[in-house]
Amino acid sequence: MTTPTFTPRVFSGIQPSGGLTLGNYLGAIKRFVSMQDEAFETIYCMVDLHAITVWQDPADLRRNTRELAAGFIASGISPEKSILINQSQVPEHAQLAWIFNCVARMGWMKRMTQFKDKAGKNAEAASLGLFGYPALMAADILIYHATHVPVGEDQKQHLELTRDIAAKFNHDYDVDFFPLTEPVIEGAATRVMSLRDGSKKMSKSDPSDASRINMTDDADTIAKKIRKAKTDPDALPSEAEGLADRPEARNLVNIYAALNDQSVAEVLRDVGGQQFGAFKPLLAELAVSKLSPISSEMARLMADPSEIDQILKRGARQARDITAPILEKTYEIVGMVR
Ligand code: AMP
Ligand code: TRP
Repeated sequence: MTTPTFTPRVFSGIQPSGGLTLGNYLGAIKRFVSMQDEAFETIYCMVDLHAITVWQDPADLRRNTRELAAGFIASGISPEKSILINQSQVPEHAQLAWIFNCVARMGWMKRMTQFKDKAGKNAEAASLGLFGYPALMAADILIYHATHVPVGEDQKQHLELTRDIAAKFNHDYDVDFFPLTEPVIEGAATRVMSLRDGSKKMSKSDPSDASRINMTDDADTIAKKIRKAKTDPDALPSEAEGLADRPEARNLVNIYAALNDQSVAEVLRDVGGQQFGAFKPLLAELAVSKLSPISSEMARLMADPSEIDQILKRGARQARDITAPILEKTYEIVGMVR
C-alpha cells in the first residue's frame, strides 16, 4: 500500500469552561501563534462541545466562548492566517466522533487519566460525554487530517489515543485514510504548576484563585499573586540541575524563561544566586509587561462581541470546506448509503 502524503496541518483546541490561565498561554497558545508563521495550515478551536461534558451555565458558556476567542486573537492568532472556530458550528466534528465511538474500545477509554481525575470518586455520576471525551477530541483532529497538534503535557495520553483510533480505523477498513498525528509538546512551560502547590498543575478549575494567573488579571493582582507564590528559603541556583528537587522554584524559573523566550540555563545565568525577594519582582514585572497588552486587547474585543461572532462564522465556513469532504469519504469507507 502506498502511504499518502498529508498537507502539513495544525489543529488544537481549548475548552471554554472558564477563564484562560497563564498555563494555557505558555503551554499552548504561544505555540499556536508561532506555528501560524511556519509551513502549516492552522486551525484553532474553542471546544464548546467538550466543555459541556461537565455542567456549564448557558450564559457563562456563551461568554466564555467569546472571551476565549478574544484571548486567542489578543495573543496574536490572526483570523487572516488561521481558521478560528467554535466546535459546535462545524457539525462534522460531532458526526465523526460517533464513528470513533464505534472504533475506540472500552478498555482504551478506561485507561484515560483525565477521566479518572475529572470524574473523581463518584464516577457513576459522571456524564457519558465525559467518558467519551477523547473520541470527540480524536474527531476534532482527524476531521481535518491534521498532522500536528500543539498541546501541554497533560494532553499526551489523549493524543496517543488519537493515533490508536486512526490506526484501528485504517486497519479495520484496510485504508490509509487518517494520518497518525504528531503531538507538539515543546517549550520551557509545557506544564505550568500551581502557584500554591508545585505538585499540582495550574488549572482554571482550582478552587483557589491565588493558585493561578488569569489572562484577565490586572497588574496589581498579577504582582500580588507572584509575591505570595509558594517558594523555599534557598537562593536560586546557577544551573538547572539545582532545581531538581525544588518544584516551586523550578516552576517560577520555567515561567520566567517561557515568558522571556529564553532557556532555563540562560535565565539562571542571570539570576542564579538571587533570593526570591529579588527574583519575584523581576518575574512580576516581566509577566505584567507580557500579559497586560493581551488583557487590554481582550477587553476591547469583548466590548463588542459581534466582531468575534463574525470571525467565528467565517471560520466555520472555511473549516467546513475541509471537513465536509473528509466526512463524506469516511461515510463511504464505512458503508453508509449516500
Ligand atoms: P484546557 O484549558 O484544559 O482546555 O487546556 C487547553 C490547553 O492548554 C491544552 O493544550 C493544555 O495542555 C494546555 N494547558 C492547560 N493547563 C496547562 C498548564 N498548567 N501548563 C501547561 N499547559 C497547560
Ligand atoms: N482536551 C483538550 C484539553 O482539555 C482540549 C481539546 C479538545 C483539544 N479537542 C482537542 C486539544 C483537539 C487539541 C486537539 O485541553
